[in-house]
Amino acid sequence: MTHDTWIILGASSTLARDFARSVAQDGAALILCGRRIDDLEATAADAAARGAAQAQVMAFDARDPDGFQPILDAAARAPGTLNCAVFVGSMPAQDAIDADPALVDGTIADNFTGPARFLTLLAPMLEAREGGAIVGVSSVAGDRGRLGNYVYGGAKAGFTAYLSGLRNRLGRKGVHVLTVKPGPVDTPMTFGLGKQPFMSTPGAVTADIRKALRKKRNVLYTRAIWRPVMMVIRAIPEPIFKKMSI
Ligand SMILES: NC(=O)c1ccc[n+]([C@@H]2O[C@H](COP(=O)([O-])OP(=O)(O)OC[C@H]3O[C@@H](n4cnc5c(N)ncnc54)[C@H](OP(=O)(O)O)[C@@H]3O)[C@@H](O)[C@H]2O)c1
Repeated sequence: MTHDTWIILGASSTLARDFARSVAQDGAALILCGRRIDDLEATAADAAARGAAQAQVMAFDARDPDGFQPILDAAARAPGTLNCAVFVGSMPAQDAIDADPALVDGTIADNFTGPARFLTLLAPMLEAREGGAIVGVSSVAGDRGRLGNYVYGGAKAGFTAYLSGLRNRLGRKGVHVLTVKPGPVDTPMTFGLGKQPFMSTPGAVTADIRKALRKKRNVLYTRAIWRPVMMVIRAIPEPIFKKMSI
């Protein structure tokens, strides 16, 4: 019997853990990738208990592309439909980045260039199998650079544009590429940021992602209210926007 296999990058993320639980319940095989192996082992045990066909743990650091090959080798051996979900990301405070510009490089590697390098290496495998899905978790922050987090926003904007092009390429071979743009979600990433508008939960984000996968959607805003909100924010003329602090 063959199953879906999900490679999950950044599998220690709160959103990833919830997503892994959900696909495990459907009997998928999981390749859980990240830096904190102990945390991934706990998620793997939980996934196995929930019905995952298999749950293995592999080291992944977005800043170290030389370490990607073992994951690609495991992907090549995986039976059934191959899928990949990218949850990797980091969001240092903008004032911390302003004080230490070296943080720019790591922020872009975590949110954009590391995941893009991995997906570019994986893409030929999905093309050859003529199926599967890629879920790329970007952010509404990538829709317009703003005062409070423009390095993170810039990295997510790059990742969003990359995913759009990847969809253009892989769609021709029957591979579904879903760009996910969450607004604020109650996870460690938003801890200490104070009250956020239209806050969501990991469970709601997972449900939205799974529905968007079933419906073969291209771009998912979660919560849905963020689509019109960002449409308005993108439409604000630059001479006005540059004086705003939203
Ligand atoms: N929470 C929100 O409000 C929100 C909103 C929009 C978009 N997002 C996006 O959603 C995704 C998941 O975030 P989350 O909310 O679940 O936050 P989280 O729990 O802080 O997860 C971030 C994940 O990224 C991993 N990571 C960071 N740098 C890495 C690197 N160099 N190599 C490998 N893994 C790395 C972290 O691994 P470690 O455990 O090893 O640190 C962690 O698993 C991120 O891409 C984030 O930008 C979140």
